[in-house]
Amino acid sequence: MIPKTLDPRGWRCVVYPVLSSTFLRFWEQYALCLRAGTKLWTTSPRRTCSSAVLSYFTCLAEEAAVSVSTSGASSSGAAGSQLPPRKMIGVLLLFLLFLLYIAAPQIRKMLSSGVCTSTAQLPGKVAVVTGANTGIGKETAKELAQRGARVYIACRDVQKGELVAKEIQTMTGNQEVLVRKLDLADTKSIRAFAKGFLAEEKQLHILINNAGVMMCPYSKTADGFEMHIGVNHLGHFLLTHLLLEKLKESAPSRIVNVSSLAHYLGRIHFHNLQGQKSYSAGLAYCHSKLANILFTRELARRLKGSGVTAYSVHPGTVNSELVRHSSFLQCIWRLFSFIIKTPQQGAQTSLYCALTEGLENLSGNHFSDCHVTWVSAQASNETIARRLWDVSCDLLGIPMD
Ligand SMILES: NC(=O)c1ccc[n+]([C@@H]2O[C@H](COP(=O)([O-])OP(=O)(O)OC[C@H]3O[C@@H](n4cnc5c(N)ncnc54)[C@H](OP(=O)(O)O)[C@@H]3O)[C@@H](O)[C@H]2O)c1
Repeated sequence: MIPKTLDPRGWRCVVYPVLSSTFLRFWEQYALCLRAGTKLWTTSPRRTCSSAVLSYFTCLAEEAAVSVSTSGASSSGAAGSQLPPRKMIGVLLLFLLFLLYIAAPQIRKMLSSGVCTSTAQLPGKVAVVTGANTGIGKETAKELAQRGARVYIACRDVQKGELVAKEIQTMTGNQEVLVRKLDLADTKSIRAFAKGFLAEEKQLHILINNAGVMMCPYSKTADGFEMHIGVNHLGHFLLTHLLLEKLKESAPSRIVNVSSLAHYLGRIHFHNLQGQKSYSAGLAYCHSKLANILFTRELARRLKGSGVTAYSVHPGTVNSELVRHSSFLQCIWRLFSFIIKTPQQGAQTSLYCALTEGLENLSGNHFSDCHVTWVSAQASNETIARRLWDVSCDLLGIPMD
C-alpha cells in the first residue's frame, strides 16, 4: 500500500529529475564541445541543423530543470511530480532521435571500417566491371578510371551506361571509359560481349564480376536458367571462362567476384539448382551468392601458378538499387539509409582485392571490409566447389578442363 502522504506516481518523482539533470549535463558538455569547435559531424548542413536543434533542446532542458527545482521546493519529497510526463517523454524521444541524427556519420563510418588504401595507379591497365551503370559497380569503375585504367562498363542498358561513362569521364578526366552491352541473363549476349572485347583489346588485367539480381519473382534467363543462379553465377562463370586466356596473357591479373554475407543461408541443392522443385526468392539469392564463393575457390585452385588470382568479396550492406524487387527491403533500406554503407564505401573491398599489392597468396579467399573473412561450411567445401564447377560447365556447354 502506498501511504497517502506520498505521491502515487512515486517512481516518476525519482526518474524525471534524474533524467532531466542528466539531460541538462549532457547539453552543457555538448555545448562546450560546440563552442570549442570539436568536430562532431562532417557536413555543414548537419552542423547548422545541429546548432538549431541544440539551442531548442537547451531551452527545453533548462525549462525542465527549472520545473524540477520549483516543484522540489514547493512539495518536499515529491520532486518532479508537477512535471507533465507526456512532454518529458516526447522531449526525450526527440532528443534520442536527434542524437541518432548527429551520430549517423560516425555510426556509418564505424560500420564501414574497410577502406582500400592502395596507392596503385593503373595507366595502361584494362578493367572490365559488370553492372557498372549503378551502385557498387559504378563506384568501382569510377575509382579504377580515377587511377588511369581503361574501364569497360559492361551493362545491359547501354543508355544508362553511357550517362554514367560521361559522368565518370567528367569527374576523373579519364576519357577511356567505354560502354559495352552485356546481358548476363542471355549467354548469346555474354558471348557477343566477349567476342567484341577480345577483338578490340589486347589485354585484360582486372575483371570485376559485380552485377547481380536479388529476390526476383521466379523467372528464367534466355537459356532457361533460374534468374539468380543464371545471372549471378552462371553468367559470370561463362564470362570469366571466355576472358580467361586474355587474363592469363596479361598476368599478373585479377578476378573479383562480388558475393555476399547472405551466402551463409545458401545451399547448393544439385537436384534443385534451377528452383524447379521449390523456390524462395530470398533463398535463391543466397544460393547464388554461395555459388560465387565456391566458383572463386575452385577458380583460384585451377589458376595456381598462372599469374591470375581470384577473390570473392562481401561489400557490406549498401544503399543501392539491389532491393528493387522487395518493397519490404526497400522500406528497411530507406529507414536505415543514413547508417548503411554508401555505394562508394561498398566498393572498397572490391577495389582492395583488385589493387592491393602482395595479395596473390590469398587467392581464393573471401574478403569483407578489406580483410580475409570466414565463410560458411558449405562455402569452404572443396568437393561441392568441384562438383558445382562441373555442373556449371555442363549447363553452359563448356569443356570441363
Ligand atoms: N547492396 C548490398 O547491400 C549488397 C550486399 C551484398 C552483396 N551485394 C552484391 O553487390 C553487387 C552489386 O550490387 P549493388 O548493391 O550495386 O546493386 P545494384 O545497384 O542493383 O546494381 C546491380 C547491377 O547489376 C546489373 N544487372 C542486373 N542484372 C543484370 C543482367 N542480367 N545483365 C547485366 N547486368 C545486370 C544492374 O543493371 P541494371 O541497372 O540494368 O538493372 C546493375 O548495374 C551484387 O552482386 C550484389 O549481390 C550487394
